[in-house]
Amino acid sequence: MSGKTSLVQGPPSFPYIPGGDLCGTVVEVSKEETQFKAGDSVVAMFDTAGPRGGLAEYKLVKAANAALKPSTISAEDAAALPSSALTAMLLCERHVCKGDRVLVLGGGGGVGCHLVQLLKLHGASFVAATSTQKELLIGLGVDRVIDRTEENWWEVPEFKEAPFDLVVDLFGTREPWERAVSSGVVKSGRLGGRYVTTVGDTPYMVFRHWWHIFKLMYDMTARGLWTRLFRSNPRWIYHLGLEPQDLARLLRRAETGELRAVRDSTHDFSLPSLQEAFRIQKSRRAHGKVVIVVSKA
Ligand SMILES: NC(=O)c1ccc[n+]([C@@H]2O[C@H](COP(=O)([O-])OP(=O)(O)OC[C@H]3O[C@@H](n4cnc5c(N)ncnc54)[C@H](OP(=O)(O)O)[C@@H]3O)[C@@H](O)[C@H]2O)c1
Repeated sequence: MSGKTSLVQGPPSFPYIPGGDLCGTVVEVSKEETQFKAGDSVVAMFDTAGPRGGLAEYKLVKAANAALKPSTISAEDAAALPSSALTAMLLCERHVCKGDRVLVLGGGGGVGCHLVQLLKLHGASFVAATSTQKELLIGLGVDRVIDRTEENWWEVPEFKEAPFDLVVDLFGTREPWERAVSSGVVKSGRLGGRYVTTVGDTPYMVFRHWWHIFKLMYDMTARGLWTRLFRSNPRWIYHLGLEPQDLARLLRRAETGELRAVRDSTHDFSLPSLQEAFRIQKSRRAHGKVVIVVSKA
């Protein structure tokens, strides 16, 4: 909405409707469509290539980005799940090994609240996470919560004695990576240590020209390659986890109770409530997902 990523996320024209993942009822399908029909309750991930538009009353959704909503999950919970929980699930599938001691930085956010529920199901033996929301994270299965306003994770003696196999960085910037390298709380690449980030060095990305993308890609590719070759540091990995073909599989996990949707707050469609929703989202202090109810079915 700021226009800072206009090169890759710019609206084709104004007025522009924001809003990402959604849950709604199918009104009409194309002639070729066989998976969905009018009246189905569906969940859809935002289209990474297209304009967002999730806050519209009616929205054209690609079938490939959608899945049927399980009847046991509310529409609000279902809308909270797609991109964040999918990122979390795919991260676990690709990067968590049996017996891993895992540290999650930014564990109380939209991705983190879902990730911490899945880590042990994928083999992690111990999960620590930074968050100002201790009770929430303990309720989601975290063994040790580090409130970043009271304690520095890179100075915790028990972490130095038993270093982590995997750090998942959901907040970004260079600082935590440098701390991970210098503090000794993460194993070296030689011993299997990994540092997986969904953010990289620049949480507030600016993509107005192609060279912005080139610079970011160059820095990240170089670090990834360097730490893969020279293994005295943990291996640095950028994780991209927005793959809608796995949405139905994710929803099944929510249906069986392996994963529950975590909402920071739920807002109605009045102007003050919408402004509050966007304020929370922009603050990077959300705890779980911010959900807006456009209309009730
Ligand atoms: N690569 C991908 O495929 C992919 C997919 C989804 C999301 N992402 C990115 O992943 C990041 C995380 O997404 P999200 O939805 O979980 O974000 P979010 O909901 O905004 O959560 C961020 C969390 O970071 C914590 N935080 C705030 N300041 C911090 C600091 N200085 N140090 C450490 N933690 C801090 C906050 O909790 P406390 O204040 O309680 O600490 C907050 O809960 C975003 O940058 C998003 O764009 C990437």
